[in-house]
Amino acid sequence: MDVSQALDTRLTCRAFLDTPVPEATVRAILTAAARAPSGGNLQPWRVWALAGEPLAALCRSVTEKLRGGQFGEAPTEYLIYPPSMKDPFADRKRRAGEMMYDAIGVGRDDGAAQMVQLVRNFEFFGAPVGLFLAIDRSLQQGQWADVGMYLQSVMLLAREHELHTAPLESWAMWHRTVRTHLAIPDELMLFCGVGLGHIDVAHPINRTRTERAPLEDFAVLRGF
Ligand SMILES: Cc1cc2nc3c(=O)[nH]c(=O)nc-3n(C[C@H](O)[C@H](O)[C@H](O)COP(=O)(O)O)c2cc1C
Repeated sequence: MDVSQALDTRLTCRAFLDTPVPEATVRAILTAAARAPSGGNLQPWRVWALAGEPLAALCRSVTEKLRGGQFGEAPTEYLIYPPSMKDPFADRKRRAGEMMYDAIGVGRDDGAAQMVQLVRNFEFFGAPVGLFLAIDRSLQQGQWADVGMYLQSVMLLAREHELHTAPLESWAMWHRTVRTHLAIPDELMLFCGVGLGHIDVAHPINRTRTERAPLEDFAVLRGF
């Protein structure tokens, strides 16, 4: 698989098979992804990889709280989105949500069904491996971009191993529970979770392909 194919076939997988992923594969992906560049070669990414009972216990802990009516842990570590979002960003977010809910037949006003889908985030959509990415809280925007490049490298390498991924910022809502379960030091901030595993191709939620704006909307080319 070349880079273009890995990029083209990566998607946010929201239904995984329970087929296990060997530890050696996870190690290979996490190691190779660390060839990602970072400003000043700071390599600011920190990763926890869970499978089996440690993963199940953490997922249970969060989903029980959600089902009990708790909606995350305040204060939030960082704002996942700006408090008020302008277009085109708000519109794109709305569109991605609509496409996802349409794929599984969940109506715009069906709060109960949307809640079921939210809970699935905290089960890693059934993935056998859950990764958690964290960053030292002393670091700045530049280093957050570096962690993003590490994340993308993990997702592309997963494709090379015929695996799929689901990056999940929603896990940041539960930073205290994750910190406690994984003994994450206080100086680190949880960025996101990432589900890793084999895609369930038969599941309708994996059949949508999100849209992208055309090049002219975001790029300026001069002097060619
Ligand atoms: C850092 C990051 C965090 C994300 N967090 C979530 C999440 O919590 N829940 C979710 O369903 N999707 C999440 N997504 C998936 C995005 O919604 C998805 O990438 C976007 O709609 C584009 O679709 P695609 O990944 O299928 O190309 C996240 C994506 C990224 C890059």
